[in-house]
Amino acid sequence: MKYSMNNDKLKNWVAEKVELLKPENVWICDGSLEENQEILDSLVKSGVFTKLNDKKRPNCYLARSDPSDVARVEKCTYICSENEKDAGPTNNWMEPSKMKAILNEKFNGCMKGRTLYVIPFSMGPVGGDLSRIGIELTDSGYVVVNMRIMTKMGKTVLESLKDDQEFIPCVHSVGHPLEKGEKDLSWPCNETKYIVQFPETHQIWSFGSGYGGNALLGKKCFALRIATKMCNEEGDALAEHMLILGLTSPENKKYYVCAAFPSACGKTNLAMLNPTLPGWKVECVGDDIAWLKLNKEDGRLYAINPEAGFFGVAPGTSMKSNPNAMLSCSKDTIFTNVALTEDGDIWWEGMSKEYPSGKIINWLGKEFDSKTNQTDALPLAHPNSRFTACAENCPVADKEYYGNGCKAVPVSAFIFGGRRESTVPLVLQSRDWCHGVLLGSSVASERTAAAEGKQGTLRFDPFAMLPFCGYNMGDYFGYWLSFVDKVKDPNTLPKIFNVNWFRKDNGRFLWPGYGENSRVLKWIIDRIEGKENSAVETPIGYLPTVESLDLTGLDIPKEDLQKILTVDIDAYLGEVEKVREYHSQFGDRLPAKLSSELDALEARLRQA
Ligand code: PEP
Ligand code: NA
Ligand code: MN
Repeated sequence: MKYSMNNDKLKNWVAEKVELLKPENVWICDGSLEENQEILDSLVKSGVFTKLNDKKRPNCYLARSDPSDVARVEKCTYICSENEKDAGPTNNWMEPSKMKAILNEKFNGCMKGRTLYVIPFSMGPVGGDLSRIGIELTDSGYVVVNMRIMTKMGKTVLESLKDDQEFIPCVHSVGHPLEKGEKDLSWPCNETKYIVQFPETHQIWSFGSGYGGNALLGKKCFALRIATKMCNEEGDALAEHMLILGLTSPENKKYYVCAAFPSACGKTNLAMLNPTLPGWKVECVGDDIAWLKLNKEDGRLYAINPEAGFFGVAPGTSMKSNPNAMLSCSKDTIFTNVALTEDGDIWWEGMSKEYPSGKIINWLGKEFDSKTNQTDALPLAHPNSRFTACAENCPVADKEYYGNGCKAVPVSAFIFGGRRESTVPLVLQSRDWCHGVLLGSSVASERTAAAEGKQGTLRFDPFAMLPFCGYNMGDYFGYWLSFVDKVKDPNTLPKIFNVNWFRKDNGRFLWPGYGENSRVLKWIIDRIEGKENSAVETPIGYLPTVESLDLTGLDIPKEDLQKILTVDIDAYLGEVEKVREYHSQFGDRLPAKLSSELDALEARLRQA
């Protein structure tokens, strides 16, 4: 034990859990560099980590997980509210008392032979107005060093915790106790996994996985599932699966924008995009989660990034697709399930066209030589392999935000989107707040090869929150709608947009995407500023005209543009039907205002 805790509530809680978990040691994390190095060294010694070549990747480590423990496990993720209806149809539910009995059995003695780390962490800057504190108990050193990148962690957090202040108790175990003399595995975990949220009592229990969103409990479990519930209770806050970016125009006017896309739709890419439009600048506040609060004075929503790092998907990231992400992980980074090159660096599919030369060790620890090209070692990196990198290492980390103690920034726009080959135009603006909430509730993406189910079919992912909402999704829609009644002037709320970078024609993408998406961001700013003749009204909302999009220097056929800027009435009527069917699962929890908004959309389409 490095130092002591003097908060009684915390002390009692830890003591109680120590009795249940029965660890060999207790280690209260102070968050110091020395402590971090000590844990890193021990992870290297025990074979969990490989230290990378310091000349190529200073202060970087590679972890290979158990092949069965590579992603979030939504089937084993539960929202345990007292009433099943309050968890809603989109979450797994179990009665809290029944779940507690299971957890008590699973967690009893589960840390035998291991060290229990106590991680005090702050989501958001320590002591910040919008920040919240969590305490994670874990038996995984991997979790400790990742949490140190992803959150503000250690002594300063404990010192800031006031006696009467709430902290979110988070208990995590890999679920692999060690008998006396038993040799540890390089990635201990358990076949049985439980990722459990008790939204009403603000508690988190996670068993059996050491991976990402299952184990770094500040991220999806706290900052989304528990925080959505807390925000709803508070009534003036939102916890969203959104990136936050700062956009500065050539006239030096700066706007902050939040965007929610389902997985694999380029959220991290947009968050740190290099604009192709001259004079425009994008700066990154966050790439995954936004916490927002309504300011009663000016009626505006202000946002922080509750995280301090990126837990980014590695494959596909390159100096071409996202140079700023590549540079973010040039040092001080933990890589999980990527390939190891002969010179002690890392590689993943999509980083370069050619395989690196020499022997490569794939994510399973298997050797691969690009000369012989054994396909049984492919892919070299797991498709969900990750980099854990400090947000402030990002070359375009927002200077104003990070240089200013991470003070909340005013948000001017919400952007929703998905991966849609047809129907949905490049960009549209909602008619008003309520119509914008309808857009959020209708977010859907075509299934990619990676997801379960038939390829190409629509998977609805409202607000990109499907696995992350800690209460009934219908109530969540209603809560979003209620914000328009919380302000004097609805115009102070962010404008709401929908984008689609993924329209195709005969398998060919119609829009170049990446840095060119800055043209769409510019149009969004035009709309925020109320620029004249910037849009046409259509049944589905306001769309840009070909003239109102800045296409300077972009070589794109006019027919292609027409396709992505026109409303296909029949296709949209089909869309309305699909949304209506999707919404019907919420039954009496679906806000009437949202149903009438959908009816109104249908009526406008029929009149067109
Ligand atoms: C995760 O899988 O741990 C995670 C952070 O999820 P995602 O990248 O899908 O948001
Ligand atoms: Na995932
Ligand atoms: Mn995410």
